[in-house]
Amino acid sequence: MPFAGRHVVLGVSGGIACYKSCTLARRLTEAGAAVDVVLTAAAAEFVRPVTFEALTGRPVLTSLWERDRALAHIGLAREPDLVIVAPATANVLARAAMGLADDVLTALLLARTGPVLAAPAMNDAMYAHPATRANLKGLVARGWHLVGPDTGPLAEGPSDRPGRMSEPEAILAAAERLLLQRAPWQGKNVVVTAGPTREHLDPVRVVTNPSSGRMGYALAEAAYARGADVVLVSGPSDLPLPFGVTAHRVETTAEMQRAAQALVKRAAVLIMAAAPADYRPAQPGATKRPRAKGALTVELEATPDILGSLTRPAGCVVVGFALETGGDGVARARKKLQDKVLDFVVLNDALEPGAGFEVSTNRVTIIGKDDEPIELPLLPKRDVAERILDAVERALT
Ligand code: CTP
Repeated sequence: MPFAGRHVVLGVSGGIACYKSCTLARRLTEAGAAVDVVLTAAAAEFVRPVTFEALTGRPVLTSLWERDRALAHIGLAREPDLVIVAPATANVLARAAMGLADDVLTALLLARTGPVLAAPAMNDAMYAHPATRANLKGLVARGWHLVGPDTGPLAEGPSDRPGRMSEPEAILAAAERLLLQRAPWQGKNVVVTAGPTREHLDPVRVVTNPSSGRMGYALAEAAYARGADVVLVSGPSDLPLPFGVTAHRVETTAEMQRAAQALVKRAAVLIMAAAPADYRPAQPGATKRPRAKGALTVELEATPDILGSLTRPAGCVVVGFALETGGDGVARARKKLQDKVLDFVVLNDALEPGAGFEVSTNRVTIIGKDDEPIELPLLPKRDVAERILDAVERALT
C-alpha cells in the first residue's frame, strides 16, 4: 500500500465535483493513508459528513466551532504529510490566495506550512478569469501544487475549455508523486513493456495470450510515483493509462521490439513485463480465411526475442520476467538472466493461484545477478511493483 503510515487531509470545498471527492477519499484510504476530511459549509450541502466518515473511518471536521475540537484545524494543518484540496473552487482559491481564514478549511490552509495539492474545479469562464489566474499563480509561487483542471463536460453542459476537476485516480497519482518521489529516480527515463502482443492469422483471427498488462501498468504507475519519466510500451490492454505516464501502443511483437529499441536508447531502466507472443503465423492472410471442413494446420514462425536482441546503453538497469509453469523455476529464471544479460529477473508461476495472468495479485521471486533471491509472499501487483523498484533502486544508486 503506497500510503501506508501516511496522514492526508482532504479539504473539500463546495462544488458539484464534491461527488468525486468521495471516490478520492476511498482511494486514499485503500492506498493505506489515514484520511481526515475537512468540509466547508457549502461542501456539506453537497455531500453529508457521514458519507466521508463511513469512507475513511474517521471523524470529519466541518466547522471552527465544533465542541471539543477548537484547535483541530491547527493540528490538521501541522500534522499531515499532505493536504489535498479537491475540489478547489474559485472561491476557496481566492480566499486562500488572500490569506483569509474565515472558515475551517481556509483557516487550516493559512496555518499550513507543508505541501498542499489543489485540484481546481469550476466553470470554464471562472477558471479563465484573470482573478483566478492571478490567485493560482500566487498560490503556486507560495509552493502549492496543482493537478488539472481537465477539459471536458461541466455540470452546466459541454465545454472545450479547462475547468472540470481531474479524476480521482489522477489526483491520487499526483499525490503519490509528491509524497513518494525519491532522488535516484528524478529525471530518469524508465521504459516499461506490458500486456500481451497479438499476431494475426488473418484480419479477424489472432494468436495471443491472456496477459492483462496489470503487472506492467502497476510498475509504470509506481515508477511515476517515485519521480521517473515513464514510457509504457503496451500491447492490447483494456486498463486505463496511469496518470503522468506516456503510452506507446503496439500490437505485434515486432512492433514492440521496434518501440523498445527506439526508447531504450535514452533509458536508465528497462522493465520487460510484457508477455510477447513467441510465435506468429508464417503466412498471415490478407483477407478472412473461410471456414473449411476438417482440421486447420497453421505454420507458426518464431517472433523476435525482444530482450535478447536489444542494444542497451551502458548503465541501463534491465529487468526481465520469467513466466514458468512449475519445475525448477529458479534455475530456468537464472538461465534467462544470463542468456538475456539482465540485472534482475522476476520469476512467477502462471499456474499458481493468485499469481500470473489476469489477477490483481502476484507471487514472485526477484533474482539478481549476485544477491540471494528475494522470495515475496502473495501481494497486490502494485506492492510487488514497489519491491521490484526497490531492487532496481539499489542498482541505480
Ligand atoms: N520476452 C521478450 N521477447 C519475446 C518473449 C519474451 O523480450 N519474444 C521477454 C519477456 O518480456 C520477459 C522475458 O523475455 O521479460 C522472459 O519471457 P518468458 O516468456 O518467460 O520466456 P521466453 O524468453 O519466451 O522463453 P520460454 O518461453 O522458453 O520460457
